[in-house]
Amino acid sequence: MSTNYWDYLRLDKLLDLQGGLEGDEQQLMPDELHFIIVHQAFELWFKLTLRELRLARDHLSKPEVPEEAIPYVVHHLRRVGEIMKLCVDQFRVMETLTPQDFLAFRDKLVPASGFQSFQMRELEILLGLGGDDRLNYGNTNPLDHIEKLALTSPSGAMARDRLRAALSESTLKSALDTWLYRTPVQGSSPTDAGDTEAVDAFVGEYFAATQELNRQKVKTMSAALGGTAAQLEERFAKTEDEARQFLYALDAPEADRARTKRIRAGVVFIESYRELPLLAWPRLLIDTVVEAEEQLVLWRSRHARMVERIIGRRIGTGGSSGVDYLDKTAQYRIFKELWTVRTILLPKPALPELKHPEAYGFAN
Ligand code: HEM
Repeated sequence: MSTNYWDYLRLDKLLDLQGGLEGDEQQLMPDELHFIIVHQAFELWFKLTLRELRLARDHLSKPEVPEEAIPYVVHHLRRVGEIMKLCVDQFRVMETLTPQDFLAFRDKLVPASGFQSFQMRELEILLGLGGDDRLNYGNTNPLDHIEKLALTSPSGAMARDRLRAALSESTLKSALDTWLYRTPVQGSSPTDAGDTEAVDAFVGEYFAATQELNRQKVKTMSAALGGTAAQLEERFAKTEDEARQFLYALDAPEADRARTKRIRAGVVFIESYRELPLLAWPRLLIDTVVEAEEQLVLWRSRHARMVERIIGRRIGTGGSSGVDYLDKTAQYRIFKELWTVRTILLPKPALPELKHPEAYGFAN
């Protein structure tokens, strides 16, 4: 028997899942089918995103990641970024729902909400958003919220079990950190003798170059702007302090400081000497992670704008403050290092002199 398009895609099942609470499409309100399908389409994209993320993480979390594995990580993460971009655009379709259309069936949903999207929570968990990084929802952490729901229905238990399983997995963030930690800095790797000194020397030179550049900038900018020297000095002192905190990992707990410092030195090194053959793919990888997170942030703010357009600043069906809560979630950053490094990158001529270029694929 030959394969059918509809059998392969299980279309009979797929197209029979839009009946809503009534289990019957004929009983849905005029715009309700639209509402259900848009949500289901998002959830399907989330499903694929979760798979791509796990594949990327698995490649990256090997004790040794061969050079040829990096393009695979980039491949899967690029897809995550593209899917998210598409999801951001998909809100345009949702927005064809007018406020009055939605009011016709909104009360049916209470207290259900996208807040219970366990796939979105899994996505956040697998990326590496920690429980403490989340905003509380009333007095409840979003993950505890799903734990509580587990007590109310069998499907709640399924959602909780999925989250618990995701929480026991390693995250993309931790895989990335472990990989970044091993970045050769000025030709030195963590297993080499004298690595701490080599990294310390690089960080010291980098920070000294930052200070020198800031001094010059204060001078030229206050000459050009006039009368604002004190203010500029204060601003530059603040950014200099941020650079110090970042490079020396002063914001990290003491027990993690040395490791965090080396991870950050790795990020700075990859971004600064990106033209070296061996650093080209790592830099692309970093860029793909940033792209994926940027799209997630855009998803959050686009969702908030769509919500504002349809329900204004009402309380959400899940009971949150609505748009205010959603806007605050757009502040989340999981890959903080990768964002912060952009603030402190130096122009090429100011960079510390590169040592051991041969370690990065240059022939002598
Ligand atoms: C008429 C359309 C929509 C409205 C009015 C709406 C409204 C809201 C509101 C007010 C919240 C905050 C929680 C609450 O109090 O309920 C929320 C959360 C959420 N919504 Fe929507 N939403 C809509 C469509 C969508 C769609 C299409 C998706 C796609 C899956 C989605 C996914 C989510 C997610 C994942 C959250 C949790 C956000 C977080 O806690 O970080 N929503 N939504």
